[in-house]
Amino acid sequence: MRWLHTVAVACLLHVAVPAEYLLPGDVVPTHYHLKYAFDIDPATNFSYFGVVDIYLNVKKATSKIVLHANDILIAIPIVRVGDVPSHKVTGYKVNDTYSLMTISLDKDLQEDQNYTLTIPFYGNIKHGLDGAYISTYVDKMTKEKEYLITTQFEAISARKAFPCFDEPMYKATYSIVIGHHKDYTAISNMPLENSVSENALEDHWPWSQIEKKFMKPKSDFVWDSYEKSVAMSTYLLAFVVSKFSFVQSPPELSDTKFKIWARPDALDQTAYASTTGPKALSYFEQWFNLSYPLPKQDMIAIPDFASGAMENWGLITYREKDLLYDEKQSSFLNKERVATVIAHELAHQWFGNLVTMKWWSDLWLNEGFATFAATVAVNHVEPTWNADKSSAVNDMLLILNLDALESSHPVSVPIDDPKRISEIFDDISYQKGSTLIRMMTMFLGDEVFRKAINNYLRKYSYNNAEQDDLWLELTAVSKKYGVLPNNVTVKDIMDTWTKQTGYPILTVTRDYEDKSITVSQRRYLSLAARSTSLTSWWVPLSVVCEPEARGPPPALRWLAANQGLTKLHRFEHGAERDHWLLFNHNMIAPYRVNYDTRNWQLLSNALKSNEYTRVPLLGRVQLLSDAFALAWTNHLEYSTVLNLASYLQHETEYLPLYTGLRGLMQIENVLKRSPDYGAFQKFVRKLIGDVYVRSGGLATKKILNGHDLNSVKMQVTISSWACRMKVPGCEENAIQLYKQWMDTENPDENNPIPLDLRRTVYCVGVSRGSVAEWRWALAREQRANVAAARSALLAALTCTKDVWILAQYLEWTVTEGSGVRKQDVLPVIVNIIRSPVGYYVAKDFIYTRVEEIYNTFKGQYRRMGEMIKTLLQQFTTQRELDTFLEWREKNAQYLVDSKLAVEQAIENAQVNINWITKNRKNVVDKLREFSTNYDNSTQINHGMHSAAITGSVQVFTVLIPLFMRN
Ligand SMILES: *[C@@H]1O[C@H](CO)[C@@H](O)[C@H](O)[C@H]1NC(C)=O
Ligand SMILES: *[C@@H]1O[C@H](CO)[C@@H](O)[C@H](O)[C@H]1NC(C)=O
Ligand SMILES: *[C@@H]1O[C@H](CO)[C@@H](O)[C@H](O)[C@H]1NC(C)=O
Ligand SMILES: *[C@@H]1O[C@H](CO)[C@@H](O)[C@H](O)[C@H]1NC(C)=O
Ligand SMILES: [Zn+2]
Repeated sequence: MRWLHTVAVACLLHVAVPAEYLLPGDVVPTHYHLKYAFDIDPATNFSYFGVVDIYLNVKKATSKIVLHANDILIAIPIVRVGDVPSHKVTGYKVNDTYSLMTISLDKDLQEDQNYTLTIPFYGNIKHGLDGAYISTYVDKMTKEKEYLITTQFEAISARKAFPCFDEPMYKATYSIVIGHHKDYTAISNMPLENSVSENALEDHWPWSQIEKKFMKPKSDFVWDSYEKSVAMSTYLLAFVVSKFSFVQSPPELSDTKFKIWARPDALDQTAYASTTGPKALSYFEQWFNLSYPLPKQDMIAIPDFASGAMENWGLITYREKDLLYDEKQSSFLNKERVATVIAHELAHQWFGNLVTMKWWSDLWLNEGFATFAATVAVNHVEPTWNADKSSAVNDMLLILNLDALESSHPVSVPIDDPKRISEIFDDISYQKGSTLIRMMTMFLGDEVFRKAINNYLRKYSYNNAEQDDLWLELTAVSKKYGVLPNNVTVKDIMDTWTKQTGYPILTVTRDYEDKSITVSQRRYLSLAARSTSLTSWWVPLSVVCEPEARGPPPALRWLAANQGLTKLHRFEHGAERDHWLLFNHNMIAPYRVNYDTRNWQLLSNALKSNEYTRVPLLGRVQLLSDAFALAWTNHLEYSTVLNLASYLQHETEYLPLYTGLRGLMQIENVLKRSPDYGAFQKFVRKLIGDVYVRSGGLATKKILNGHDLNSVKMQVTISSWACRMKVPGCEENAIQLYKQWMDTENPDENNPIPLDLRRTVYCVGVSRGSVAEWRWALAREQRANVAAARSALLAALTCTKDVWILAQYLEWTVTEGSGVRKQDVLPVIVNIIRSPVGYYVAKDFIYTRVEEIYNTFKGQYRRMGEMIKTLLQQFTTQRELDTFLEWREKNAQYLVDSKLAVEQAIENAQVNINWITKNRKNVVDKLREFSTNYDNSTQINHGMHSAAITGSVQVFTVLIPLFMRN
């Protein structure tokens, strides 16, 4: 086996970040003493001031100190040695291009010497979602509007809260002091050390000249000091000043003191988090074989929050929906999400916080690892959920789609402009990252993997590392155990996956005479015509074949990068000529597989037999996913796919069913506004009619009180599809349930609709109802005290087909004080775009109101890009795309932070347009033909008439918001 670096790899090898974006590194911080006074009062516009003492070590003599500051007012800095001023500051200014603040001194700072740089600063805390910002809520008892100050510093917003060296490699310790009115409680990364009450500010502020004008001395102030922190990166710092309450976790679950904080009205929703958190943390201590280094862990639910949660060390902040869980108001899926997010953030306490990437190019290592590790902990805390399988499938399916675009990007992505960091908090970093980490655990084995991770964490504790550092540790342990091919390192293998964009498709050709198999690879692309790429991968070949033939599973084989093709002999795979054979057993790596016609036929027969479970669960997922994708890109006949998928009528497992429906959803998406949608609906009705009845439908509560996540997901997904496809009875049941709810006394407490089906029922109720049904949902939304319940109602409001209501709702998203929180603007717009009627309204809204939308999204991750991507995903005609391209020309200034997303969106639209041109007629004919075949071949008779029912209800049960990150 030979390993040659291809040209593509060579180009992508870490491009040196141009120095002008980066701090020069001649002066580095070792400790920060950071002191704030906050006036949480709208009357003073939330004025604050602060002073930071930064302890500096000089690496190289210089007369300039360069650090970060963004959007804060700064008074004259002082440079001292001990208490004695040592240098005169001759000037200081901030250049906004990269938020760099340069302090010029009268003479050089000496190499190897230590200095203290003191900078007073002040300003107003703003309503926002990053830096230190104001969040609000209404206290249900007093009906008062309350305010809190909270922080979100990742990736580059610490510099909005205080002047600092805001790059992950400048780790330092922190001592924090926060002054605030005594009615508030302040918390930070470390435990409270002491708290001093003072009536006047003067004693604490030697900088009285400017500040007194800015912030009047207050009475009833408290000064809270926190223990000195461990060495950490700026982006992990956090504090919250609020009137929140907390519950303490049961002490027997963990040695770490755990508190869950929430607004007082939501405190009764913290029970699940208060046991899940410590359980997961204790499990990670075992799994990493390394204790959690801080004495406490606070987890807090913030009413306004940009992402899902943020792993600040010792003080994890969450969107309410992702921490709080209410037995009576949250669904099973909400609970799954809460457990997953908690586990993800706790995994970061080691991977990310203790050992941190040197630069954001390796963000994927943090995020991919935390995403993978979360499933390990959830598996432990909730063993019946099969979190490992379900995340593996979710992550894999997501990235197989996105990463088939030419405009995708490598997981390890050179970042040469800090403004573009937020763009890579995307599915490639999270889901492809996670998939690749899982792949390693599978080809190295759990023991090797964990040993190496432990070595890595110990070696780089309180420090930074790059992916190559991890590869070295993994290779070292692997060699001891002999789990890698000869002369191959983990780096050889992983570089092909992390530094190259995309993934391979294997072409498998069987020789049925000599029973050998030939396997070759090339890059898989959605626009097949463009597949000229020479890239190749180290592909782990896991094979499985018909059970009778199976001895012990064949040893893992490799298809080496640049090997061209490989031949497997009979003893290496075990399949006889009449046996089906399946590659990528256990979905070990992100690749697709195409087979010769006969093997497809054998697989198809196996699925359609009574014993389809002989094809393993993940094998069924892989097959369905590959078949739909290959047909989509004209590598496989649609008749083969539909034939294969027809077995889904009998499937009882959620994951394969979900995969098949995902494949169909891609077709639905391009047909839903076309004359052929009726034929599509009819086909799907035939396919899922039986499953709908079996799963319990909407009429019964039979499964919902159980704790079987598989059944619940099955019922939720199928119900949503059934109503959208007009399966008889589905919408009628939903409408009835909604009416029943509207007639209920005390509807916020006594909602008669089964918890897990609420999203579906609400959406049908609103879409089939009038203004009254919409207003009802709105009133419930405004009164909801449980974030998960609010979120279901917010989605329901987008289901109306009344154009004027949709227009009004969109208007609210950009209107201050309308009741739509900034954090909810994107989900609302995106849901409306996806609905067949809403699409037209939303497109017009985006094209004409982009400036206001842009201003609403300001400072939030990737919002603009996500919106544009969703919009272009709906395109099916060249005319729609041309209009967009013209519009883009004139509105380029709003798209500067979303270049990558816009490119991907355009490519996606082209994929759709191509498909419509090439496949539409053929596929619709096939769908019709198969619908008829079902009539002939099955006993099911729903009394359906073939009159196509057009118009659809868009139901968003599985709304997994892509923008909820961290
Ligand atoms: C700010 O920095 C950029 C990039 O280094 C530079 O091009 C620009 O001239 C600077 N602006 C000022 C006012 O110094
Ligand atoms: C500078 O500070 C570091 C720790 O912060 C210390 O180890 C070092 O000895 C100091 N150097 C001098 C010259 O004081
Ligand atoms: C491994 O590399 C060494 C030194 O380059 C070479 O002598 C040996 O033949 C290689 N082994 C294999 C199995 O390729
Ligand atoms: C279905 O059955 C009808 C009536 O028996 C027959 O005319 C038709 O050809 C059959 N269709 C298919 C596709 O087998
Ligand atoms: Zn994360």
